[in-house]
Amino acid sequence: PQAYRLAVVAGDGIGPEVVAEGLKCLAAATEGTGITFETTEFDLGAKRWHATGDTLAADDLEAIKGHDVILLGAIGDPSVPSGVLERGVLLPLRFALDQYVNLRPSRLYPGEVSPLRDVDAVDFVVVREGTEGPYVGNGGALRVDTPHEIATEVSINTRHGVERVVRYAFDVASKRDRKQLTLVHKHNVLVHAGHLWRRTVEAVAPEFPDVTWDYLHIDAATIVMTTNPGKFDVIVTDNLFGDILTDQAAAISGGIGLAASGNVNPDRTYPSMFEPVHGSAPDIAGQGIADPSATVLSVGLMLDFLGYPELAARVEDAVAADAAAKDGTARTTVQVGDALAARIRG
Ligand code: IPM
Ligand code: MN
Repeated sequence: PQAYRLAVVAGDGIGPEVVAEGLKCLAAATEGTGITFETTEFDLGAKRWHATGDTLAADDLEAIKGHDVILLGAIGDPSVPSGVLERGVLLPLRFALDQYVNLRPSRLYPGEVSPLRDVDAVDFVVVREGTEGPYVGNGGALRVDTPHEIATEVSINTRHGVERVVRYAFDVASKRDRKQLTLVHKHNVLVHAGHLWRRTVEAVAPEFPDVTWDYLHIDAATIVMTTNPGKFDVIVTDNLFGDILTDQAAAISGGIGLAASGNVNPDRTYPSMFEPVHGSAPDIAGQGIADPSATVLSVGLMLDFLGYPELAARVEDAVAADAAAKDGTARTTVQVGDALAARIRG
């Protein structure tokens, strides 16, 4: 029996609606186990920014660091200029908490509809780098709004940063059946970063002799993900390629409503953060119709991270069973959450 401190950042749009169902399912999964979660809610996102001008204050960050794990709904709202909340809340959390592994599994559950024809097994995990690449804000603009404007967005790739995520990806691959790792980059054009990634994979590979690895350029990887996604087992890639590829991965495996993720700090120096891949979906916010499944699956990833693989499996099995039982009837967010919680309780 363990007591955990859980920081809850429900955030914007549908965030609070899906997080409520995620917490409901967390309670269901831990019922009778003696495992408890004491939650602290953090008011971050559009409402806070409009009221105070704050994004993530130093105090928020310190308080969040006092927790074991974080559950996040969604950050982003059309009433706030693009980038303010993303660069002000979400990315600072990932960076400051050193969540260098962005873990994004994709599985096509029986009963889910893929837009792909003749797709059989989809079961892979993307290990997306989470703290470097073009996401770090290393750039600037000159002569803004003139015909001579110049903008740079320089990707940062450190040997340290690449090596630790590559090693993590090899480790994930070594624990799976197929033990196959694919590095995705674009080293025929992005020669500096691309070759750093390639050399790093070559250097780490001997530590994992039972893992086979190969390489695909990002453009070719999108073709394979469309024509033969069953080829993939584990993919390791940089922050931006991973962002794009995991939206494609979600689209082919049941849709963005089912895509879960963990922003993991494997060294456990700071809390890891679990969140659905989807955004705040302002178009359907407040209507109670968002699918909470991705948040519930993210709760499953959180339980696995905390060392409860059997509880994590119950959560995932519940989502899979719910998918198989779907009959096309429209359900509310709460109805889906209740159905999942009931299945988790068994
Ligand atoms: C994601 C999102 C974020 C990202 C945005 C909101 C900053 O698209 O989690 O995939 O690009 O990482
Ligand atoms: Mn994304």
